[in-house]
Amino acid sequence: MKKFLIGLVIGILLVPIGFYLYCRSGHAPVATASAPMPLERFFAKTALHATIHREAPKNVPFPATADNLFGGVMVYRQNCAFCHSLPNQQPSPAARGMFPKPPALFSQRGMVTDDPAGVTYWKVKNGIRLTGMPGFGKSLSNLQMWQVSLLLKHANQLPATVAAALSALPASPKPAGGNKTKKKA
Ligand code: HEC
Repeated sequence: MKKFLIGLVIGILLVPIGFYLYCRSGHAPVATASAPMPLERFFAKTALHATIHREAPKNVPFPATADNLFGGVMVYRQNCAFCHSLPNQQPSPAARGMFPKPPALFSQRGMVTDDPAGVTYWKVKNGIRLTGMPGFGKSLSNLQMWQVSLLLKHANQLPATVAAALSALPASPKPAGGNKTKKKA
């Protein structure tokens, strides 16, 4: 019994010690281009999924009217296209160098039309920890966050005018705050 307990304690201790040595070894994947760390995928997918589906609002407080979808286009072009790209465009320069990669939310593969709008709203509001996905709860209004969530929910069935506004040139995604680049004196 005693031997068993000692074995058990050593066994339990080996896990954190092993993980510590692994991190200290200089071989852990920390660059964006590296493969995921052990357990990273599990944590990123399973824990995230469970939390979001528990916390995401079930009711959508705004309807997907053309007005709200247009509002979503404004929000998307200013805050999201920088990473998630616009329809029929190459991945943005930022998207190419990120891990995990931001999905192109208007491509067949990257669309989140299957997700309830409340789930997308949760991600927009809170962000996704340990990825590049920012939380916009402090910078966008509640209405704006719902508008962009509705836009993504209906990404595959947008009214033609909304789709045109989304893809309209010049495709110049700017960070929130717009055009306020100061000229050097
Ligand atoms: C700085 C880059 C960046 C910006 C800006 C950004 N995102 Fe993201 N976003 C990401 C990354 C990276 C992921 C992938 C996270 C992951 O793999 O778990 C992501 C994931 C998402 C997802 C989940 C996709 C899925 O397949 O489940 C949604 C929805 C999303 N972003 C919406 C938005 C919206 C809406 C905006 C603008 C309000 C935005 N993002 C702005 C980087 C960004």
